[in-house]
Amino acid sequence: MSYFQQLRSAITESEKTWLITGVAGFIGSNLLEELLTLNQRVIGLDNFSTGNICNLEEVQHAVTEKQWSNFIFIEGDIRNYSICENACAGVDYVLHQAALGSVPRSINDPITTNQTNIDGFLNVLQAAKNAGVVSFTYAASSSTYGDHPALPKVEGNIGKPLSPYAVTKLVNELYADVYSKVYNFKPIGLRYFNVFGRRQSPTGAYAAVIPKWTSAMIADSDVVINGDGETSRDFCFIENVVQANLLAALASDDAKGQVYNVAFGGRTSLNQLFDMIRSELKENGIAYSKDALMQGFRAGDVRHSQADISKAEDLLHYKPIFSVRDGIKKTMPWYVGYFLEKAKADTH
Ligand SMILES: NC(=O)c1ccc[n+]([C@@H]2O[C@H](COP(=O)([O-])OP(=O)(O)OC[C@H]3O[C@@H](n4cnc5c(N)ncnc54)[C@H](O)[C@@H]3O)[C@@H](O)[C@H]2O)c1
Repeated sequence: MSYFQQLRSAITESEKTWLITGVAGFIGSNLLEELLTLNQRVIGLDNFSTGNICNLEEVQHAVTEKQWSNFIFIEGDIRNYSICENACAGVDYVLHQAALGSVPRSINDPITTNQTNIDGFLNVLQAAKNAGVVSFTYAASSSTYGDHPALPKVEGNIGKPLSPYAVTKLVNELYADVYSKVYNFKPIGLRYFNVFGRRQSPTGAYAAVIPKWTSAMIADSDVVINGDGETSRDFCFIENVVQANLLAALASDDAKGQVYNVAFGGRTSLNQLFDMIRSELKENGIAYSKDALMQGFRAGDVRHSQADISKAEDLLHYKPIFSVRDGIKKTMPWYVGYFLEKAKADTH
């Protein structure tokens, strides 16, 4: 049995209370499903700014009625300290995911991004510390590597941020470090690298690349690639990220107060990604025959990104199970189903 499987069994045996902020979002709802499946009590906080009630409904259908009864949802905003305080009461483990993602959104609206990602982060951090939680794990970001050219990315070598979003994620890490030193409250930051999977929103101007292209292909619309298609990313399937969160939440004390890369540890170019999505959609009965349209590079984007995941492997026992191709294979049927349902609803 792998370390992670053993950990899942141990979690199942001890019923604890978890707080997931951003629970109605992509990553938050996947964490919720995993924890309810493991018979945990979960408090979820979200203001539905980018998350969706449908994500919660989907989780409800995926778990038993009894497991669902272990979930308490608070509709509220992390910018409000007293809401964070209430949400943290009686909690053992915090998984803080709520934030406004997207580099372009932060360039268009740095103020709201800052308020949510820095003020909101600090509220949840402070409330969790005061509530005496066992551990605090938060969503950090690969954007923190900024303009540092080295590949693969190693936790200790970061450059200057290239966007307001990256600034906010760097500030989270600075606060986490200060809380470790000043209060001996030691958060774990997980620097996610381009996470993808079911329930990642395909709608809106700030959709991430995989849902955006998938929805364009299903609708037989144009797929636009920013740059020449050789820009690369370390795409990471959601189930690897769920694993990392559970490992971090239950990590030993010496692994706390640090940041970790959470990725697959590979590199996929946008051209390769385009081919992968197209061929997996074909397996699901959707034939897309157009070529991608190339347009200019996007402000704030880094050219290449790939993680060194050895720190998470060594200290958290993280072992990503799903490659990009595995993840795309598991994800495409969900999007096909999602758009079929949507088309049905639109015709009624
Ligand atoms: N998806 C990725 O590739 C990726 C990469 C790096 C970091 N991250 C980080 O992971 C976390 C989760 O991202 P995601 O992809 O699930 O995004 P998401 O937009 O699907 O989820 C974020 C959730 O936070 C909620 N939220 C936002 N502002 C809030 C507020 N003020 N109060 C309460 N809830 C609020 C949203 O409604 C949403 O449900 C974020 O912190 C993001 O910055 C994601």
